[in-house]
Amino acid sequence: GKKVKVGLMGMGTVGTGVIRLVNGHKEDLHNQTGMEMDIARILVQNPSKERALSVHSELITDDPYQLLHDPEIDVIVEVMGGIEPTKSYILEALEHGKHVVTANKDLVALHGAELLKKAAEKECDLFYEASVAGGIPILRALVEGFSSDRITKMMGIVNGTTNYILTKMTEEGAAYEDVLKEAQELGYAEADPSSDVGGLDAARKMSILSTLGFHVGMNLEEVECKGISEVTKEDILFGKKLGYTMKLIGIAKQDDGLIEVSVQPAMVKQSHPLASVNGVFNAVYVYGEAVGETMFYGPGAGELPTATAVVSDLVTVVKNLKLGVNGRGMVAPYKEKKLKSEEQ
Ligand code: NAP
Ligand code: HSE
Repeated sequence: GKKVKVGLMGMGTVGTGVIRLVNGHKEDLHNQTGMEMDIARILVQNPSKERALSVHSELITDDPYQLLHDPEIDVIVEVMGGIEPTKSYILEALEHGKHVVTANKDLVALHGAELLKKAAEKECDLFYEASVAGGIPILRALVEGFSSDRITKMMGIVNGTTNYILTKMTEEGAAYEDVLKEAQELGYAEADPSSDVGGLDAARKMSILSTLGFHVGMNLEEVECKGISEVTKEDILFGKKLGYTMKLIGIAKQDDGLIEVSVQPAMVKQSHPLASVNGVFNAVYVYGEAVGETMFYGPGAGELPTATAVVSDLVTVVKNLKLGVNGRGMVAPYKEKKLKSEEQ
């Protein structure tokens, strides 16, 4: 049968995981979807760079048009990051009728509505599960699992890098700069780690969660945001003595239709489950009017956990291709947004 040809944009931490998973789980993926996936071309910045995983050199290119203008390529998997030229590449891919899977929260938080509109126009899939909470399928849970409920609150730890840093500072008294460097080496941090430690990465994720959970068009600048750069080792160790653990917490609330979304460092009681979410792990509580309290927990960053989210999106694209139902799964925001800050 026909193979589904995938154009992979980016072969860094996540891209490498995607190749490992698509190749390592080939048979299972084939059995699930009824179609074989083939990574046909890989876009990188520097083709001569030495890589953690070896692939045929003819697959690698620094020319995006070898992916975007190849009529054989059905799906673009974007794991290169950044706003431009990435946004233009995705729009062009959609314009050519290619389905898109991305892990790019910067782009989705800022331009998600525009990209989704183009995808709908072209009857293309555009999925972005990996953009929030790495290996936890939280977006799927919000969009599908809670579609019958009204979500009132989402709260938790949605940045792996800062949680890794805070955990090591709390448990080992480690120095901030040393642990940040470690998180970068482990592939957890963003290309510009100031977006992790400044809280912006978590704000992007809370904005995406709010858009999907509350069915409103949430803008990134409407998320109040404070990171951990000013948190000192002394603050952390003092809190610890009093029975508290410092965490970077994202909260999105909807009270009487008024929405409030924020990210800030907070002292969490050691007895609270969020205090035990350590290292690169994330956890998100979702409260629904009917369901009550639920909690999702898992690795929030890293090569293979993030790749599971990307490749699961890819599996959905392939299943949709098989059924000829691409581009039909999107729900546009349908509620008018009222912010609590505007009422005061
Ligand atoms: P990374 O390790 O820095 O890899 C980026 C890759 O994209 C590299 O292969 C790089 O090429 C390529 N690239 C970057 N800019 C390019 C350009 N202008 N043209 C062509 N190729 C370009 O990044 P990553 O950690 O895998 O993250 C990728 C995306 O996933 C980001 O949007 C990030 O926010 C998101 N994400 C990451 C994680 C994680 O745990 N790391 C988790 C969830 C989501 P070279 O290899 O030649 O430099
Ligand atoms: N830099 C991000 C984090 C990657 O540390 O959570 C996962 O989105």
